[in-house]
Amino acid sequence: MSLSDPSLLVPDYSLRAHNTFGFDARARWFCRIESSDQFSAVLRDARVAGLPHLLLGGGSNVVFTRDFDGVAMLVALAGKRLVREDDQARYVEAAAGENWHAFVAWTLANGLPGLENLALIPGTVGAAPIQNIGAYGLEMAERFALLRAVELATGATVELDAAQCRFGYRDSFFKREGRDRFAITSVTFRLPKAWTPRAEYADIARALEAGAADASPQAIFDAVVAVRRAKLPDPAVLGNAGSFFKNPVVDAATFETLRAREPQVVSYPQADGRVKLAAGWLIDRCGWKGRAMGAAAVHERQALVLVNRGGATGAQVLALAQAIQDDVRERFGIRLEPEPVVV
Ligand code: EPU
Repeated sequence: MSLSDPSLLVPDYSLRAHNTFGFDARARWFCRIESSDQFSAVLRDARVAGLPHLLLGGGSNVVFTRDFDGVAMLVALAGKRLVREDDQARYVEAAAGENWHAFVAWTLANGLPGLENLALIPGTVGAAPIQNIGAYGLEMAERFALLRAVELATGATVELDAAQCRFGYRDSFFKREGRDRFAITSVTFRLPKAWTPRAEYADIARALEAGAADASPQAIFDAVVAVRRAKLPDPAVLGNAGSFFKNPVVDAATFETLRAREPQVVSYPQADGRVKLAAGWLIDRCGWKGRAMGAAAVHERQALVLVNRGGATGAQVLALAQAIQDDVRERFGIRLEPEPVVV
């Protein structure tokens, strides 16, 4: 396919298969990007000049509330390889369009442990740094070496290290100053050779049949997969975008006031003295677990996950989210921040 191939851009395209909520939003233009040169080729095309653009990976962190009047670019860059190793670590690079879980499974199959706690997270490798995916005691940032990206305005290729990506809890440069400016093309991970299991998370410790201390990378992978399958809905069966809210972090005084009223509140002390609360617990405590507003519902086994029971629109899911936010604020004085990107 040549770069000027007009068939690269498809008009009026349904994004239903490209968002895990299964919303039937349409894009004015759609294209599938298979090489990094194609980003600039598409953005130079006169038909889409001046229109907004939207990058899509697995569509597992996006809520469409209406049709998208712009060009949706599905990042389908493929490839993964061991780049190099030194005394301390191995460096593995994967293209942005690689499926995250398949990539994690591939690292283990090739004797490259270190990402197993992040098994079964939906989405692509290129989306992982944007929200700094994390689960079961590990955040992607801890295994990150660098990423490559195309700056959309100029077509220039850039390389960003961890400091430049400014990773935080479910946060990065790409959700702030860098928002909509870059297309991530590949991510390189640093996997330390001195591997030790991360099995402190209670659900994982329980799921490990052998003792947690001598669990293998594969045993951790299997435990994470089992725990996620038991608690989190499979987007292929029940549309969802994982946790719909971030776990809120509050100051110590707010926490003490809350704990005086709610001694059972689930909390995680942070290094800076603040306290992270389990949003799922707060929502559950307000009685929302399993409740529905039309076809938009709160998952029965994890109140942090909103689901599309079939035929819900993005607007309906947002209305449910708003009702939950209002309730949690009224009852606990705590503001919940949605996690997915709303288009
Ligand atoms: N809880 C309830 N009721 C609920 C849900 C949770 O009481 O309906 C309680 C649990 O019993 C537990 C605590 O809240 O004591 C925390 O629950 P859980 O271990 O399920 O984790 P979480 O804090 O709700 C976070 C991540 C998940 C990640 C898990 C495991 C966020 C926003 N979510 O959820 O990430 O898989 O920890 O590490 O940080 C995602 O980002 O999409 C995601 C699924």
